[in-house]
Formats: sequence, C-alpha cells, structure tokens
Amino acid sequence: MTERTAALPHPGDPAWTLAYEGFAPEQQGLREALTAIGNGYMVSRGALPWERGDDTHYPATYLAGGYNRLITRIAERDIVNEDLVRLPDWSGLMVHFDGENPIDLADTTWREVRHWLDLRHGVLHLSLIATDPSGRETALHLARVVSMDQPHLAALELTLTPLNWSGRVVIDSGLNGHLINAGVKRYRQLSSTHLEATDAATFQAHTDGPDGPGEEEMIALVSTFSQARLRVGQAARTRLLTAEGRSHPVERRDALAEDGRVRHTLTVQMTHGEPVTVEKVAALYTSRDTAISEPGLAAREAVAEAPPASALVAAHGATWERLWQQADVVFEVDDPEVDPATVQMNVRLHIFHLLQTLSPHSADLDVGVPARGWHGEAYRGHVFWDELFILPFLTLHFPEISAAMLRYRARRLPKARAAARAAGHGGAMFPWQSGSDGREESQVMHLNPRSGRWIPDNTWVQRHVSLAIAVNVANHLAATGDQGFLDNFGAELLIDITRFFASLAEHDPATDRYSIHQVMGPDEYHDGYPEGHRLAGRTALSNNAYTNVLVAWLMGTAGDLLAGLEAARRDQIMGRLGIAPEEPDRWAEMAKKMVVPVMDDGVLEQFEGYAELKEFDWEGYRARYGDIQRLDRILEAEGDSANRYKLSKQADALMLCYLFPEPELSHLLERLGVPFGPEAWQRTINTYLARTSHGSTLSYLVHAWVMARSHPEDAWGMFKTALASDLTDVQGGTTAEGIHLGAMAGTVDLVMRGFSGLAVRRAGDTVGLHFDPVANRRVRRLAFRVRFRGHWLGVEQTPDSLTLTPGPDWDPRTPVLVGGRSMPLGPGRPETIRLTGAPA
Ligand code: BGC
Repeated sequence: MTERTAALPHPGDPAWTLAYEGFAPEQQGLREALTAIGNGYMVSRGALPWERGDDTHYPATYLAGGYNRLITRIAERDIVNEDLVRLPDWSGLMVHFDGENPIDLADTTWREVRHWLDLRHGVLHLSLIATDPSGRETALHLARVVSMDQPHLAALELTLTPLNWSGRVVIDSGLNGHLINAGVKRYRQLSSTHLEATDAATFQAHTDGPDGPGEEEMIALVSTFSQARLRVGQAARTRLLTAEGRSHPVERRDALAEDGRVRHTLTVQMTHGEPVTVEKVAALYTSRDTAISEPGLAAREAVAEAPPASALVAAHGATWERLWQQADVVFEVDDPEVDPATVQMNVRLHIFHLLQTLSPHSADLDVGVPARGWHGEAYRGHVFWDELFILPFLTLHFPEISAAMLRYRARRLPKARAAARAAGHGGAMFPWQSGSDGREESQVMHLNPRSGRWIPDNTWVQRHVSLAIAVNVANHLAATGDQGFLDNFGAELLIDITRFFASLAEHDPATDRYSIHQVMGPDEYHDGYPEGHRLAGRTALSNNAYTNVLVAWLMGTAGDLLAGLEAARRDQIMGRLGIAPEEPDRWAEMAKKMVVPVMDDGVLEQFEGYAELKEFDWEGYRARYGDIQRLDRILEAEGDSANRYKLSKQADALMLCYLFPEPELSHLLERLGVPFGPEAWQRTINTYLARTSHGSTLSYLVHAWVMARSHPEDAWGMFKTALASDLTDVQGGTTAEGIHLGAMAGTVDLVMRGFSGLAVRRAGDTVGLHFDPVANRRVRRLAFRVRFRGHWLGVEQTPDSLTLTPGPDWDPRTPVLVGGRSMPLGPGRPETIRLTGAPA
C-alpha cells in the first residue's frame, strides 16, 4: 500500500484561534468546555463525534434555560434539585473501518491531532490521522457549528480520506436519547434521569439535495423532560458527498429506530486518496418555541428545508463576523512572559463564550444569566448574582440582550414578592439561585469531596443578589436612557428591591441607625459566627459592609430616580406600584443611616464582628496543602471551620471598591457619616488582599480591577491570572464542568472599562461618559466600541493617548469627560487627547 499525505486544514491566525495539539485525556473535559459551540439558544460541547461519554469524554448539548426538577433521598432527607438537562445528542457520528473497527481511543492510533476553535467564524475543527489495527491510515477533518444564523440548526461535516487503502467504511449517524446527567462527579449520587425519550422514527422528506430535488430519508426523536414536561423535537439528515459536493454513492443505507434512539447506518466504498464528506444537519425545537405548531414537526420541517451544511457554515460565519464588528476588543500587550497573540485570543475567547451563552437569539427567550454558561452541569445551569459582572459589557454593546436578562428577573417578581412575604418582609426578595420559575434553587446540602461528608449549605442567605439586579437596572437605564424599559419593568424591579431592603433593615432608636441581620456577603466561607464569638448564636451574619453600603446607595438611587421623573410620570409609577408618600422619606433616611462596620484605621469591616476572628496561618496551610483556594473544604475535613478565621473565599468588602471608584465610594461613605478617603481605601484593600484565598474565579477578577488603581505594580500579574483562569483551569478541574461566565465577561469588561476608566455618570439631569485611563506600559494598544444611548463610539487607548471616534449620528450634546476635563465630540470626528503621568 502506498501512503499519501493528506492536506488537512490547519488552525489559522493565533489571535483568533484557540488551538490544541495532540490528545491529552486529562485535558479533554476542559477542551470540550472551551471549544463548545452555541448560539444563545443551545450549546454543544466540543466532544469528539465518535465518543459516547465516559470519565474522559462528555458529549452534551444543553438548551438555554432547559431545566427539570428531580428528588433524591440523601442523608435521610428528600433533596430536590432543578438541573440543566443534557439533551439527546445530535452530534454523534461513529466511523467503522471495513465495517468492523470503530474509530476510538482503544484500538486506533492517532497522529497529527489538532483540535481548534475558529473564534472569528465560530467553527470547531478537529483534524487527525487515524491508523486502525490493520494499518489502514485515514485522514479525518471535522468542522462543526451550532448556527448563529438559524438558531434551531446545527451541522457538522466530517471528511475522511483513506491514505493507504481502499475499502468499505460504515458510518453510524444518530440521535441518542439514552442519556443521563453525569457531567459532575460530585452530583453522581443524585437522581439524574431527566429524559423520557418517547418517539424515535425515520421519515421521508422532499428535499432539494445535492443532485436536485428528491425524496430523502431522515431521522427524528421527540423526548420529554420527566417533570417540566418540556417536549424536545429533534430531526437530522445525513448525506455523503464527494469532494465536488455531489452525492457520493452509498452501498447500503439502514435505519434503526428503537426506544429513545434512532440512527442511520451508511455503508460506503472508499477509494485510496479520495475524500468523502459525511454531512449531518440537525434541527431542534421545543414546546416553548414560538411560531411553531409542535416541536417534532417543526424540527422535521426545518431539517428538510435546511441548506447544505457548507452553506449553513458560511451563513453562520458571516453572522459571527457581524457580531465581532460590534463586540471585538483589540488588546495588544507587551510582556516578555506571555505570548501577545494568546492574550488577545483569550480576550476574544471570553467574548465568544459570552455571546454563545447570551446572544441576540436569547433576547427573545425567557432565560437568565447562567453562572457556568450552558456549557456543562456545574451549578446545574443556575442563575446567581454573576450578572453583576456580565451585564456591563452587554449593556454597552447589546442592550437588547441585557434588557432581556433583566426581564427574566421581572417575570419572576411575583415569586420574589412571595418569598419576601413568606420571610416577613415587603418588596421582592430574589433567590440566591434561580432556575425555571424563580423559586429558591439553592441546594440545602453539599458534598465536601475532601471529607466525603454532606454538609448543610447556607449560601442562600446571600440577599445581595437582589442588589446586583438593582445595580444592573440603574446602569442599563443610565447607558440606554430607555424610558420604555423603565416604564415596563425597570422601575418595578428597582422599587420592589428597594422596598425589600427597606423592610429588612431594622432601626435602632438608641443609635438612630439601620442594621441588616441574617445575611451573608459574597464571601461564602463565612455563614455564621463561630462558637465563643460575642455574636455566636445569631443566624448568619449581621451588617455585612458590602450589603449595607450598597443598600444605602440603592436607597439614594431609588429616591433620585423618582424625584428626577417629570411629575406626571412619577405619579403614574407611584400609583401603579402603590408607593406611599412616606416610603421615599424612609429611603432617604436609610441612605444616610445604614450601619457601616469599620475597624481600626478606618478599614471597612467585612461584617460586624469580623475583627474579633482569629488570624489564619496562611503560610502553614500553603506549605501543607499547596493549593488552598478551597479553604472551606480543607478546614471542614480537618474538623475545623472557616467561620473562625479572618479569611475570605472571594472579594467581599472589596466589591465596593470594584463597583465604585474611590472618590464615589468615599462620598457614599461620608454621606453615611463614615470618614473615608484615599488612605482608608488603600488600607482596606491591603487588609483583604492579604486574606483572600480566591476560591471563586470572580475573586481574581475583582482583585485585578481594584489593584489596577491601588497596586499598579502587582495588578498585571493578578490580571493575567484572572484572564487565564478558564484557559488554564486555575481551579484544577472546574472549567470542564462549565465555563465561568462571570470571570470571562468580567475580564473583558476589565480590559475595556477597567483600563480606560470608562464610566457612565449622571451629573444633574444629564448623563455622560467619563474616562479615567490607567496607563499601563504593558498595554500597547486597546481598542473597542461602545454603544451609548443608541450611538456608537470608538475608543482607542495607547500608553500616552486616548482617541475617541464618535459615529456619524453622535449627539454632540453628550457630556464626555477625560480625566475630569470636558472633551466635546462632534459626529464622526475623532479626537485625541495626550495622557500624562508615567505608566505603571
Ligand atoms: C461563588 C459565587 C458565584 C457562584 C457562581 C461561587 O463559587 O462564590 O459568588 O455566584 O460561584 O459563579
């Protein structure tokens, strides 16, 4: 047999390509998550098409907001969990050489393995040369998309070229509903069968195929979620094509439909050196989709009408190119320790995954912002407070998507109001974890894999989640000026959250101050006071500084919002929401009288009584354990508790320095009677920098943001860790279970707003854009666009200049300030300002 080399495609521009060489079983889960392809409606992990799922491979497709609830009996309790359901797999394709040897890891040897993601066009590629046990060498190239152009369609093309043989190949192409949720090892003791696969069938459809119109046999599967009763209709079409795109003769075509599974088996004679492409196009609809009669029927019709995969891939790529015109962030760095192209790619990878999770298609769905993307089963696809880090980028690029995410919250206001009522409060109390219907989805127990013990999970008392929603509502309003958003649900969200905190806070007549008890801040390592503490016996914690200061901000913001409305609209909103005239008076008072715990030297105290906790032996634990990110688990396994120590999982008090620049924070605190200023700000930051273990990827991001201004010399290192946290799987295994969307979107926002100091600020009746660039000698060039009140503005920053390029329809009355100085902009006219001050 003579050997021929295959001209396999190669990864392209490294600044636009996430590329892997070779196969590394221990990395496969990570690669699958990072090369997942989606469109804001559904996401498919980047698994190899012939793998069915085991501890190395986990092919899975998830529907945005596709949840189902199951009960498990654990530790003598009924535990109820709502999970993001792993859908029947559309992407499976098995190849048998000579009809016998399946291509798989056990029997096939592989070389020249390349696995890459083309970020510019949204295509997953895999190429390799496989040698089967009989020495047959075959070149394979896979290209896969989940269409950003037609959100119900996905497609793959697998091209096989026999390099040293001619003979028979059998291709197995199916839809498989025999799947359970098994992506997260820690959850494996929990119930996991969510799908009732009901209807597997083949069908004939009239299509305009590669050789002209004709009848084609296709496969279909309709399954139902066991509790949510969501019906999922899928259909697929498999064709064999020659290099010229014509139909390739098929020796035999068999179809097998059994319970929950349906497949086509195509037998084909292959000739040495001649490529054959297997093209699979799949459609997915659910009973929640609009403009359909029935999901099974919609899927069958869509797949019959779908264009060839090559055309789908092209239209998908063109849609991505258009998205990039709005969303790209150019980030050129100069750092001998990193490859500049990798850093640029990393920023784009984050934008890419953000837009695959929440795209213009999501704007029409009833979905929230999932902490781990729709990329895996970690945290069950739930929605936490992570939108605080995610919506800023969307609001300044795709405000229709961020409005839709807030509408997800607004639709769940009745549940949030009921939750507040049940807890004895007014207003709306949003759950810490949210899924389908807005009830509290937090787990009540979680497994510590280190000790093997199931322990109570009290993280649900993080009432600050509602504050994150309020911050986003206020920011959305400021950046868009969208009065319809305000009238339809923005005001309602903001006011009902304000009312909740107004009713949660307790007034102490002795001090004339307002306290908030029974809460937790973002630091999940403290859920109560330890034995022997002055405040032991209280439920959860009192007066978390982040919560209290943000509540004071909210009280002021809600009052200002109402006061700033023209009288008729104010009356209308007050009437509709039944706001009693004395309510805004109480808000105004709370804006000045919330308790803010402060330690010696004016350092903000994470919560009341934090100062009395023990110092932690950081060095000792680092020496003993190496990786001490998850100190909660380490200490619990030792029979100890993180509650006893001055240590934090993630930024908590420092969240205030993340949300507010120092002068604004100082102003806010001064209004509360707390003297603050640059020195107290710096001391507060130093205190917590030294006492945080970064058990959440959000922590690196917040610290990097804060350090950019407080510790410019060390900030770059923290920034690099934050940016690479998913790429390098900094938590050692978590990314495989789902990307960290907060850290991803937050680092892009950090590059964009953190380095340029971009803020949307209100001054009296006008809202303007403020820039306060941080000069960093490692950042050679930063360029992006933002959309402010419907108009685009180009921003380009170098170590010594800032150039602003307004679009042709820019409103010249928009206040624009750079470093506090006014910089009026005319439509379409770029302006450059020299930056002074030595870069860090
Ligand atoms: C963090 C939370 C975050 C959640 C989801 C947790 O580990 O502590 O702040 O909301 O992950 O990303």
